[in-house]
Amino acid sequence: MNAIRVLPELLVSQIAAGEVVERPASVLKELVENSLDAGARAITVTLDQGGTRRIQVEDDGEGIAREDLSLALARHATSKIRSLQDLEGVASMGFRGEALASIASVSRLAIASRRRDAAHGARIAAEGAAAGEVEPAARAQGTSVTVEDLYFNTPARRKFLRSEATELGHCDEAFRRAALARCDVAFALRHNGRASRHLRSQPLAERAAALLGEEFVNASVAVQAQSAGLRLFGLAGTPQAAKTRADAQYFFVNGRFVRDRVLAHAAREAYAELLHGERQAAYVLFLELDPRGVDVNVHPAKTEVRFRDARAVHQFVRHALGRALAPSAAEAPVAYAALSHGAPIQAAFALAQPSRAYGAFTTIPAPQADRAPPLGFALGQVHGVYIVAQNDAGLVLVDMHAAHERIVMEKLKKSLDAGAVQAQALLVPAVFQAEALELAAAEENREALAQLGLEVSVSGPNELSVRAAPAPLAGGDVAGLARELLRELREYGASQVLSSRQNELLATMACHAAVRANRALALPEMNALLREMEETERSGSCNHGRPTWYQLTMGDLDKLFLRGR
Ligand SMILES: Nc1ncnc2c1ncn2[C@@H]1O[C@H](COP(=O)(O)OP(=O)(O)OP(=O)(O)O)[C@@H](O)[C@H]1O
Ligand SMILES: [Mg+2]
Repeated sequence: MNAIRVLPELLVSQIAAGEVVERPASVLKELVENSLDAGARAITVTLDQGGTRRIQVEDDGEGIAREDLSLALARHATSKIRSLQDLEGVASMGFRGEALASIASVSRLAIASRRRDAAHGARIAAEGAAAGEVEPAARAQGTSVTVEDLYFNTPARRKFLRSEATELGHCDEAFRRAALARCDVAFALRHNGRASRHLRSQPLAERAAALLGEEFVNASVAVQAQSAGLRLFGLAGTPQAAKTRADAQYFFVNGRFVRDRVLAHAAREAYAELLHGERQAAYVLFLELDPRGVDVNVHPAKTEVRFRDARAVHQFVRHALGRALAPSAAEAPVAYAALSHGAPIQAAFALAQPSRAYGAFTTIPAPQADRAPPLGFALGQVHGVYIVAQNDAGLVLVDMHAAHERIVMEKLKKSLDAGAVQAQALLVPAVFQAEALELAAAEENREALAQLGLEVSVSGPNELSVRAAPAPLAGGDVAGLARELLRELREYGASQVLSSRQNELLATMACHAAVRANRALALPEMNALLREMEETERSGSCNHGRPTWYQLTMGDLDKLFLRGR
């Protein structure tokens, strides 16, 4: 073995760069964070060739003093912390004093800056960390950092760069994260000489609409919760905003975009009862807490964090989000009602003013004589599928099967949470042919089945009978349901079926029980369904995440008929 040697400074920086500067997008992230730390009000990002040729970030922040310019490029040099105590309560994005040094070691980097009180600006350039002299430069207050030819001196690394379009995509995502994190700051993005994004300082809903689309914002609810030093706010997509890919899940902790398992899991649980299967939630959420309660010094890129009290954070986020997502129909968010797919009606419901939109049908504790209940009174049925009702605001349309499914599901869930689903003996047992494996599964899972409100017993060499079923299911296809449950139990085992797969299972049961479309209901039955919806959590969307009802206000109807113009 060779003798032990201290590595040269440049190599040390290049090794560090391996962790921090994964690709052009990481440079963009670091530079923008520096601008934010400098109190910038406006940040312009300019890219050439997806950032592989050039990344420039200009800001109007406090600037760097002429005599500090060369220090800014030095490793372990920072203006942001001075002690371990500072580190433990760090509130700035940066604190390692390493980003610029790392970037400089693998690129041609130049900084030009001017502080407000300085008579002139100054500039320094470095190539592979060999810094030149500080020179005077004409410029306004603020800083611009230009990074050219990333990895020009580390060919092995350069090979990992992907196509211009791919690197641009990553840069755009880094830009999007920063711009979502700070909607109070103006941002602009230019690529190959053309403006691609321009965002003024604006409210979050506007910023999110610009970056994630109007559809997301129109189908989201505002989240706002606070408890014991924790605050959660932002926009949570309803099931209508769900996507096939988990690419619109933004969590920020004290303004920093993070990928965190605790938070992701809490969100998944909050959404579990609304989204099944392949649908992925969309959200932009901000968690704020005392910086001392979260360690951001976990990974050089700082996208991971460690919470001091992870359990408390998990619980808080899960419940705050769950509450925001789970209103009963009586207090359903406007998003459900406002989804009038491109019709001009939608404008009336801009999420920016949720209070106004809610106004028409906020929770009314008990129906008063002169006011209709939130979902109104039924007028009739359309082709056995939809209920038409009238409330104070106007017209209500309800998908009765979807709504009933949700009601049954929530009922089953409540009784299961309380111990077991209540079974009701069937007058005539439902008998069905079964294979040996199904017979065995019925025997083995007798207890789990009982917990789900089913009594299944072997009544012949290849025959099973259902003797009792949950009350709301008694009139339905009990044998079909029993078959499906047995299949689930065989595939996943009782404990999993009753825990992690519980929601899917209850949804299956509810589907078997719910009133089928094409069934004629009498008005009292329809009204009973509406009243139940008002009392049921999450009744604004069915177990598969589709909406269960729409509101058309008198204003919407007037617009449809061009009245009052
Ligand atoms: N845009 C800017 N405006 C003002 N000062 C800046 C700017 N960019 C960098 N600086 C100064 O240069 C120093 C070094 O920046 P660098 O990004 O290398 O480290 P850091 O931000 O302190 O920590 P980290 O490595 O965690 O990012 C900063 O501490 C800051 O004082
Ligand atoms: Mg920094």
